[in-house]
Amino acid sequence: MKIIFTAAICIFAISTSSYASDNLVKKSNATKAHSIIDKKCTTCHSKEKIDLALSSGKDMNQIQKEMVNKGAKLSSNEQEVLGIFWKQAKPIAQSK
Ligand code: HEC
Repeated sequence: MKIIFTAAICIFAISTSSYASDNLVKKSNATKAHSIIDKKCTTCHSKEKIDLALSSGKDMNQIQKEMVNKGAKLSSNEQEVLGIFWKQAKPIAQSK
């Protein structure tokens, strides 16, 4: 009985900690994405433009490519971080 109880606690601990670290990864990705947007995307227009597109469910990966064509300078790492961020799709102003 004691063993079963201990095992249950272990499973619980493992599952909650992986859930927490998953959230942490998402959170730190969002933080990185915010700073990339602040640095690279607000030179030509405001963040509101991005928020509007996000909240109206536009294809942000497509828009990101268009922005790179227009002259946004993103490293491949930055493109990856933003790619993950668009999937979480929270308007920037609200997720802060
Ligand atoms: C070199 C200038 C420039 C940079 C840098 C830039 N943009 Fe843009 N962006 C534009 C212009 C010009 C428009 C308006 C033209 C249009 O709407 O097609 C625009 C429009 C947009 C729109 C609205 C498009 C739509 O269809 O609703 C979004 C969203 C957007 N930009 C996101 C971004 C993001 C994200 C970044 C950073 C990766 C970025 N932009 C960086 C020039 C830029």
